[in-house]
Amino acid sequence: MTTGSANLNVMIKAARKAARSLVRDFGEVENLQVSMKGAGDFVSKADLKAEQIIRDTLMEARPAYGWLGEESEEVEGADGMHRWIVDPLDGTTNFLHGLPHWAVSIALERKGEIIAGVVYDPAKDEMFTAEKGQGAWMNDRRLRVSGRRDMIEMIFATGVPFANSKHLPKTLKEIAILMPRCAGLRRWGAAALDLAYVAAGRYDGYWERGINAWDVAAGAILVKEAGGFVGPLDGPGDPIAEGRIVAANPLAYERFCEHLAAA
Ligand code: IPD
Ligand code: CA
Repeated sequence: MTTGSANLNVMIKAARKAARSLVRDFGEVENLQVSMKGAGDFVSKADLKAEQIIRDTLMEARPAYGWLGEESEEVEGADGMHRWIVDPLDGTTNFLHGLPHWAVSIALERKGEIIAGVVYDPAKDEMFTAEKGQGAWMNDRRLRVSGRRDMIEMIFATGVPFANSKHLPKTLKEIAILMPRCAGLRRWGAAALDLAYVAAGRYDGYWERGINAWDVAAGAILVKEAGGFVGPLDGPGDPIAEGRIVAANPLAYERFCEHLAAA
């Protein structure tokens, strides 16, 4: 791995620290499954604790930067240029059910552009990192999006909205169009990892709407730095700020978007 900037290093440090706390709590979740309410409350607390750890670590290093996190109030930074965008626990439902597929996601934005991202999956000890112009990495390995060209060989990921979301019917139509044309679809329940897997060439593409900036900000720069395309779903706009995103290898991107638009 190339040596990261001081900012990237502090993001990695924060992600590892929060992950240690989350891993301890994940070990407890199984014991709490008897009472779903108990488990739900416990996981919310684990989530809040992890966000506090990340916030303390990042804010200590860069007190003037702004903050946007899933679990706490937004802060406008004194420097007016930089902002941390953080999801302390992406894949909460997996965590609650004892499924080892969840991650810590931390992005750094400068003047509205994401310039660094870290997605850490502690269960597999996979640390995905990227900085603008420096490529994307998983632990010590440089990442490249997949080189697959044939749709029928591709795997796509999405987040199927929860039962009462207004986006459900559209997503189901998209699934009906894509499924017969590709090798398979996955809904693994952690958007940050869906994007990290596109960057790693494991998935060929990913799409989701109704998502928040903290779910996708770090993952989006991973995909771009691994040579992939990231754009808005359903017409022009900012895919991260507006929470409708499509990402894919460059050979798949256009056809993938066409199929989605046909739904
Ligand atoms: C969720 C996950 C999921 C996606 C949802 C997100 P959370 O984040 O990333 O894959 O489909 O839209 O809200 O709630 O687990 O942090
Ligand atoms: Ca999330």
